[in-house]
Amino acid sequence: MKPGCSRLLFICLSAIWALATADVPAGQRPGCPAKCGDVAIPFPFGIGKHCALHNGFNLNCTSINGTMKPFKWNIEVTKISIPSSKVWMTTRMSWQCYFPATRTTNYSDSWLSFTNSPFSISEVDNKIIVIGCNAVAYMRSSTYVIGCYSTCTNVTLENGKCSGAGCCQADVPKGIQYYRGYFNENYNTTQIWQANPCNYMALMDKAAFSFNTSYVKSKVFYETYKGGVPLVANWVIRPWTCKAAKKNMSTYACLSSHSACVDSTTNDPGYHCKCSNGYKGNPYITAGCQDIDECREKSNPCGPGICKNTQGKYSCSCHPGNYMANGVCVPIPKSPHFPAVPVIGASVGLVIIVIVIAFACFIQERRKLQNMKQNYFRQHGGLILFEEMKSKQGLTFKIFSEEELQQATNKFSEQQVLGHGGHGTVYKGLFNRNVEVAVKRCMTINEQHKKEFGKEMLILSQINHKNIVKLLGCCLEVEVPMLVYEFVPNGTLFHLIHGNHGRRIPLATRLGIAHESADALSYLHSSTSTPILHGDVKSSNILLDGDYKAKVSDFGASILAPTDESQFVTLVQGTCGYLDPEYMQTCQLTDKSDVYSFGVVLLELLTGKKPFSLDASDQEKSLSMMFMSAVKENKLQEILDDGIKQDNMEVLEEIAELAKQCLEMCGTNRPSMKEVAEKLDRLRKVMQHPWVQLQQDPEENESLLGQRSAMVNSTVVSAEYFSIEKEAVTSLGSGR
Ligand SMILES: *[C@@H]1O[C@H](CO)[C@@H](O)[C@H](O)[C@H]1NC(C)=O
Ligand SMILES: *[C@@H]1O[C@H](CO)[C@@H](O)[C@H](O)[C@H]1NC(C)=O
Ligand SMILES: *[C@@H]1O[C@H](CO)[C@@H](O)[C@H](O)[C@H]1NC(C)=O
Ligand SMILES: *[C@@H]1O[C@H](CO)[C@@H](O)[C@H](O)[C@H]1NC(C)=O
Ligand SMILES: *[C@@H]1O[C@H](CO)[C@@H](O)[C@H](O)[C@H]1NC(C)=O
Ligand SMILES: *[C@@H]1O[C@H](CO)[C@@H](O)[C@H](O)[C@H]1NC(C)=O
Ligand SMILES: *[C@@H]1O[C@H](CO)[C@@H](O)[C@H](O)[C@H]1NC(C)=O
Repeated sequence: MKPGCSRLLFICLSAIWALATADVPAGQRPGCPAKCGDVAIPFPFGIGKHCALHNGFNLNCTSINGTMKPFKWNIEVTKISIPSSKVWMTTRMSWQCYFPATRTTNYSDSWLSFTNSPFSISEVDNKIIVIGCNAVAYMRSSTYVIGCYSTCTNVTLENGKCSGAGCCQADVPKGIQYYRGYFNENYNTTQIWQANPCNYMALMDKAAFSFNTSYVKSKVFYETYKGGVPLVANWVIRPWTCKAAKKNMSTYACLSSHSACVDSTTNDPGYHCKCSNGYKGNPYITAGCQDIDECREKSNPCGPGICKNTQGKYSCSCHPGNYMANGVCVPIPKSPHFPAVPVIGASVGLVIIVIVIAFACFIQERRKLQNMKQNYFRQHGGLILFEEMKSKQGLTFKIFSEEELQQATNKFSEQQVLGHGGHGTVYKGLFNRNVEVAVKRCMTINEQHKKEFGKEMLILSQINHKNIVKLLGCCLEVEVPMLVYEFVPNGTLFHLIHGNHGRRIPLATRLGIAHESADALSYLHSSTSTPILHGDVKSSNILLDGDYKAKVSDFGASILAPTDESQFVTLVQGTCGYLDPEYMQTCQLTDKSDVYSFGVVLLELLTGKKPFSLDASDQEKSLSMMFMSAVKENKLQEILDDGIKQDNMEVLEEIAELAKQCLEMCGTNRPSMKEVAEKLDRLRKVMQHPWVQLQQDPEENESLLGQRSAMVNSTVVSAEYFSIEKEAVTSLGSGR
């Protein structure tokens, strides 16, 4: 039965394949060059202003040592694809080398900015690759810091393997248009320069990279790629969605008949065009989409039958002695059972056989799917989780099936998207027509953490605090597990503060939110059975419910202090403006890193300013730096938010003082989250009942001064899974 099955499928698939991979001729505006050197330049790209759709697609064709090459700005373009809306470019890599002659470590940081252009960095095709024997390199864009650690000490380097030994890699956030690659200076080649003088970092096409152990030696990696690496960028026609673009036909780019418009999947509106099924060519020029002559494709889609091409389609008719099955002619088998039966009889028999085959295929496929689901379930520790759940009665945690979540989110429809992030998407879901939830669907999971996933879920599910978003369950039977959270209706604190809605937020509300968030973090740090560090405290991780009560989210994005460096293979995540400077130096996340980030949230509440602004002058880029210098110069009044300037100055000064303590450079000098929460609670009471004394008890003063950072004593389990906009690590108690 199997051969018949695969043959039918094969014929069907090869027809689809032929359609999908049909060569696409480049199309240009009249009088415009079709090529620059070896690179085809299809419209909307063009060389010269009137040859491109607009200036964003304009390329230069320049002679480099006698060969013509296309350039966008100073970046070489090596290939342009219309059907996939991608473009391949060559960009510089970053390096860090020790030069024994001058006894210096020199750096070259590469950067790329696609801001205000049609391009964005493809998160599907590219990876951040770091090569080196003692290297920590980061990629930084306006909202992310992502990087990894590569070493050659006590590890075996392997060709083709890039997971911390001589080479490490990390995923690229979705839809970014800007990045800068740079190295942590505390990891360098000063000690090992004789064998391995250089570290490299590249944001590059993962298909064009395979680790070779010789890359860590001298300058092999650099020379292999001649200093440049291939990068895949997506391009779209901005700034409208399909619906909006169609309103003005004079600027609508899908010019060809038989073409369709497809919305971009990133956050910024934009679209691209494609030829309808059965047509190929360039949808951006008039009559660019041409009928595909299916009958002339390499394999006749009718099998041995007669093929007739029509517009957008084709039709088949069969020679005598052949029979039409699923649109393909197949010979009628000469069976002894039907020696003289008329053709009709044979056809009926064949139809029955085909139905039986199809049914068997269907059953087999279903069984395969079922097995796959069970495998994923096991891989993610679902069995352990099940056992534990049985023994712990009264747990409200639920394991969802893939179907349930598909139903709840309307098959993960675009309309249900609540937000996109670096590693996946959050959807709004509805169970039983009335229970609202938020479903997180991530793009990838780190191999190391797969097995522990079920156990981690159990720990997170036991966190129960009114100011923490509740984890309701998860779905393990898919390749990358999905998480189901309680739905919080009123958006994020970030949106409340920076959302431009024109509402005045009273000081009491701000103080309430601050106190509740601090209380939640303090609970994570100290009250739970296994202390959990949040790891990515920021205003967009504080959600608000109907009464502006704070709910801290992504507590799963929690790192427990790594106990040794090897665990920190793919790590350093966090958000610019909130990252603890000490963490950047030591790569050790402590409870005091959360305190620092919380200090930044306090500043946002006080000043109404964003924590990090790329556009501002250097001085004002970082809110914490701006605040510190304002405090030093006694100009606190000047940076306070207009909405609260007139409020209780005494309370404002106390909050500012608290923020200042949280932002201390040295973690040990910062107060603990518990102290912060207590202080905010007291200030809140002062606001409500001004007669309460605004005074610290001496005991607290003492602990603030003599505070030593209590390092949380547990092991890290999982990094990088939970976060959507951030990365994560949670813990399990076992020693490692
Ligand atoms: C051009 O050729 C010269 C000499 O062969 C070489 O030094 C230079 O690096 C080349 N430039 C580029 C951009 O390839
Ligand atoms: C083309 O080259 C010129 C001169 O080098 C430069 O000013 C311009 O920005 C380039 N244009 C594009 C589209 O790369
Ligand atoms: C490295 O940097 C130092 C100081 O900036 C400079 O003097 C030296 O020439 C550089 N060396 C190389 C090989 O680039
Ligand atoms: C490497 O292994 C050796 C011997 O097992 C040990 O003494 C050394 O501390 C290890 N080095 C590191 C950096 O872990
Ligand atoms: C290299 O790393 C060591 C150890 O972290 C550090 O002490 C030294 O200052 C670094 N050297 C440079 C040039 O950054
Ligand atoms: C690794 O690089 C060396 C020299 O650079 C080359 O000879 C070897 O074939 C490469 N190995 C693989 C697996 O690519
Ligand atoms: C359509 O776009 C053109 C070019 O930008 C503009 O001049 C025109 O006013 C637009 N028409 C409408 C109806 O918006």
